[in-house]
Amino acid sequence: MGRIAEEKIQEIRDRVDIVEVVSGYLPLKRSGVNHQGLCPFHQEKTPSFNVNSARQIFHCFGCGVGGNVFSFIMRMDGLSFPDAVRRLGEKVGIEVEEEEVSPAEVRRREARERLARINEVAGSFYHQLLLDDAAGAPGRRYLRQRGYEGETVRAFQLGFAPEGWETLASHLAGKNFSAEDVRNTGLVRPGKQDRGDYDLFRNRLLFPIHDLQGRMVAFGGRVLDDSLPKYINSPETDVYHKGQVLYGLYQARDAIRHSDTVLVVEGYFDVLALHQAGFSNAVATCGTALTPDHARLLKRYADKILLIFDEDAAGRQATFRAMDALLPSGLAVSVVAMPAGEDPDSLLKTRGEEGFRRCLDAARPVLEVFIDDQLRSNDDTVEGRARAANQALERIRRLPEELERSLYLQRLAKLIGLNVEDLQSKLRGSRPAASPVRRPTTQSAPSYKPVTATGQAQKYLLRLMLVDEQLRKSVREAGTVELFLDDQYRGLAEHLLASEDAAGKLPENLINSALDEASQSLLAGLVMQEDQGWADNPEKIFEDCRRAAANTRLKQRLQEVSSLLEEARQSGDETAEVQHLREYTEISQKLKKKL
Ligand code: UTP
Ligand code: MN
Repeated sequence: MGRIAEEKIQEIRDRVDIVEVVSGYLPLKRSGVNHQGLCPFHQEKTPSFNVNSARQIFHCFGCGVGGNVFSFIMRMDGLSFPDAVRRLGEKVGIEVEEEEVSPAEVRRREARERLARINEVAGSFYHQLLLDDAAGAPGRRYLRQRGYEGETVRAFQLGFAPEGWETLASHLAGKNFSAEDVRNTGLVRPGKQDRGDYDLFRNRLLFPIHDLQGRMVAFGGRVLDDSLPKYINSPETDVYHKGQVLYGLYQARDAIRHSDTVLVVEGYFDVLALHQAGFSNAVATCGTALTPDHARLLKRYADKILLIFDEDAAGRQATFRAMDALLPSGLAVSVVAMPAGEDPDSLLKTRGEEGFRRCLDAARPVLEVFIDDQLRSNDDTVEGRARAANQALERIRRLPEELERSLYLQRLAKLIGLNVEDLQSKLRGSRPAASPVRRPTTQSAPSYKPVTATGQAQKYLLRLMLVDEQLRKSVREAGTVELFLDDQYRGLAEHLLASEDAAGKLPENLINSALDEASQSLLAGLVMQEDQGWADNPEKIFEDCRRAAANTRLKQRLQEVSSLLEEARQSGDETAEVQHLREYTEISQKLKKKL
């Protein structure tokens, strides 16, 4: 992908007005220096979503999301950064050409456009047939029998492929597409010998799969009777990668954003059924396992995931595979159990919305379900329990939050009859570095209270760094490692120091695509609060951070030393024992003095 010139980005940012852009999505009201509205990224009743027109940034004090006009569009419309720049460029009449786009890349891009276009034409054709053509009657009848109405049919642009071999092929032949492009969609297949090309989908109900811009890029097709295969799907193409697309996400994303929750189900019909019953935050994988790419995609819209897979061996396996893909992302994943043999579509038919809601209410955290399952499927012997414990530890290790890890360890210890310390030291053995996760910033009063919560001190220090040149100097001299415990805060501090010019004058310019979404949000919050004019004691905050960092490091070392000590005791290594004991005592005393 070619890079967009930095000046271009700046030019567009200067030209668009964030208040106007945001107003295109939600009503804003003036309030002091800011404009306020109900946050589109979480559910709320009183507005905590702020847009600052002078600084051209936004920040929600409720859920912590924030950034500049590009980040806003990216989040709202699920666009990549270059696409967001392009979209806003169009709006203000600035054309965005990219640097370094090779002719080959241009050709690939044009080929993708053509693929998407043909899918779109095919989808509209099939949709029209289903809506009101005589050839669509079997599809309409089938849907009616299963209880699906016009509105759902339209929202999902369902279609019908009639019986014949060349319905679509001849429709497309009348347009100006090359035979090769048409074949590349997989919707029409090359005929053998001197036969003409023929349709992939015949006599099937069609579920178009939309990308995030709402373009139909692929289809799933169901037979109308019991013949096999029940579903066939478009092949993977340059515009359709099933490991990166979720069925129904285009239709569901507002509901997902508002409820901060996404329901992940197995089938196309389940998505329709849920949507029709008012659970519009449902998506399905397209006949494939949930991937880490899916997890990243969902993380843009929600923090909570409910997995609703079949209650059989395959469904269970799918659930735990999904767990493995989802856990490292920091999403809270729970499992919704359906009565055996039911899926959401069938359950809603037999027990209605109420029955389904009861299942939702009984959702359990996936790791809990996993641990139970491990204990049940391994036999109740020492080896069996060890195996189960190892399987569980393997998962607990990947949780990005310390607190969660520790809660699960306690639970596991209890279930398995081991003590927590043993599990803990086993876990410490080889835990990979935690990936930075989004921590929502909450609105804080603009006065500084002595803080023990080290995050708070780091945040204040960062905020002061935005306005205080002297302080930036001190931070540079002390080194960020000495002051910032948290990776995310440290990264931001370094970003600030690296762009010294902007830090003093136009801190909003620091919110740029060099930062990940979480850091942009955090920084937008700080910049927004910086306007409130608050006087604090920078030296004191600086010292608080330094002390907190040093203290935490000592505590960590103390834990390490205490397990080393324990090991030395058990193995009878007296020299080591004495040495560790000495260090242990030293650290304890230092800690006592400081606290
Ligand atoms: P199911 O077999 O559970 O079907 O497949 P379903 O969704 O309940 O469909 P109905 O209610 O009988 O009409 C679940 C999903 O697995 C994929 C499809 O995405 C389907 O929705 N699948 C299933 C296939 O891709 N191919 C198949 O042959 C079967
Ligand atoms: Mn079903």
